[in-house]
Amino acid sequence: MSGQSTYVPKTSFGRWFDSRLPLMRFAHDTMLTFPTPRNLNFWYAFGAVLTVMLGIQIVTGIVLAMHYIPSGDGAFDSVENIMRDVNYGWLLRYMHSNGASMFFVAVYVHMFRGLYYGSYKAPREVLWILGVLIYLLMMATAFLGYTLPWGQMSFWGATVITNFFTAFDQIHKGLGTGIASWLWGGFGVSDATLNRFYSLHYLLPFIIAGVVGLHVWALHVPGNNNPLGIDVKGPQDTLPFHPYYTMKDAFYVALFLILYVGLVFYAPNLLGNPDNYIPANPIVTPTDIVPEWYLLPFYAMLRSIPQKLVGVIVLFGAILILAFIPWLDTSKVRSCRFRPMMKVFFWLFVVDCLVLGYCGAQSVDAAWNLGGISIGLVWVARIGTLYYFGFFFPLMPLLGLIETPKPLPASIATAVLAPAE
Ligand code: HEM
Repeated sequence: MSGQSTYVPKTSFGRWFDSRLPLMRFAHDTMLTFPTPRNLNFWYAFGAVLTVMLGIQIVTGIVLAMHYIPSGDGAFDSVENIMRDVNYGWLLRYMHSNGASMFFVAVYVHMFRGLYYGSYKAPREVLWILGVLIYLLMMATAFLGYTLPWGQMSFWGATVITNFFTAFDQIHKGLGTGIASWLWGGFGVSDATLNRFYSLHYLLPFIIAGVVGLHVWALHVPGNNNPLGIDVKGPQDTLPFHPYYTMKDAFYVALFLILYVGLVFYAPNLLGNPDNYIPANPIVTPTDIVPEWYLLPFYAMLRSIPQKLVGVIVLFGAILILAFIPWLDTSKVRSCRFRPMMKVFFWLFVVDCLVLGYCGAQSVDAAWNLGGISIGLVWVARIGTLYYFGFFFPLMPLLGLIETPKPLPASIATAVLAPAE
């Protein structure tokens, strides 16, 4: 971990407790003196931002649950009751719904940062895989949570997504329908579905918190990577976590929270879908069923593939492939700062994800009209999907073999203390 512990209990109770359960020693060694590379930049504050956002989601969620009714008859009205009659209920709900969006903003920055600086590479593979697991759990939690207000988008979103499991009928007759009706607790999305989704939506954040504990543990074994992607060579390359990074993280967390409260107070419905203010109606299908913005790139991939089973495999594959990139990337150099070719493909990948997100938000038959030529967005999404997978394979392994990286600095200290170019 951080090498020899420097913790010295100051009181006799402290000494007594420390020799029985060294909890304070653990906190001291991991949060105060932990040697951290001295060159961590702004992008490294997002781990702290995510921790704060997870806390906010759990606290606001628990209070919302005190007023929420998980039944087809009661759900929509109980949410309206929270908005209108519960003291500060509107605030709790807007904090929770916009908190989910901000949580995803932070997780995407955090993941792209990891990709750019090669933080998934040895010896941080387990740390990365735990991150992918957290991301998967976050998506599941958000999807389940979105069904709870029992508006039109809640109901039809849940219907569309759970129906995709029926694609497994193509592997074995009855398998997919079996899984779907097991998920529904009936023959379609119903009261029973809402009830179990509520139960799981309450449970998953605590599982996420547990995996975050492992994630941070797996971080503290090899220590942080850094923007240069080179290893720490000695004490001259590090700073104690406190006060340097506690203060830096606190500053950026505060900036992030300003954006968050801006959204909560000035544009609380900006990212929501107005159709979700219409109570769920199983006999009226909305014209366009769209998930929340953070799931749109995957939704675009799914919709771009005409064969249902292949679509579902692509959807899950798009997330699963992330777990393999520590081994797909063959480069000896971690950070894109020193990888001129990878840097270009990385930024193309970011644009690709944005384009896919855009495609996912449009209706299925939308098209771009370029000088009289109509290009169906479904084709844009297909090319986007191809690049998404192509970036990980074959580009990642290939680039590592053919690219000539720029020379690496001798150490973090020499790079940081060198005069600016
Ligand atoms: C609830 C969600 C998450 C929380 C609370 C969280 C927390 C943290 C914290 C506190 C750090 C150390 C500070 C920092 O580097 O920013 C960290 C590092 C890291 N996280 Fe996460 N994380 C989350 C999700 C993820 C996800 C989804 C991934 C990737 C799929 C990921 C991958 C990483 C990696 C690779 C590092 C090491 C970065 C480096 O040292 O360069 N994390 N995380």
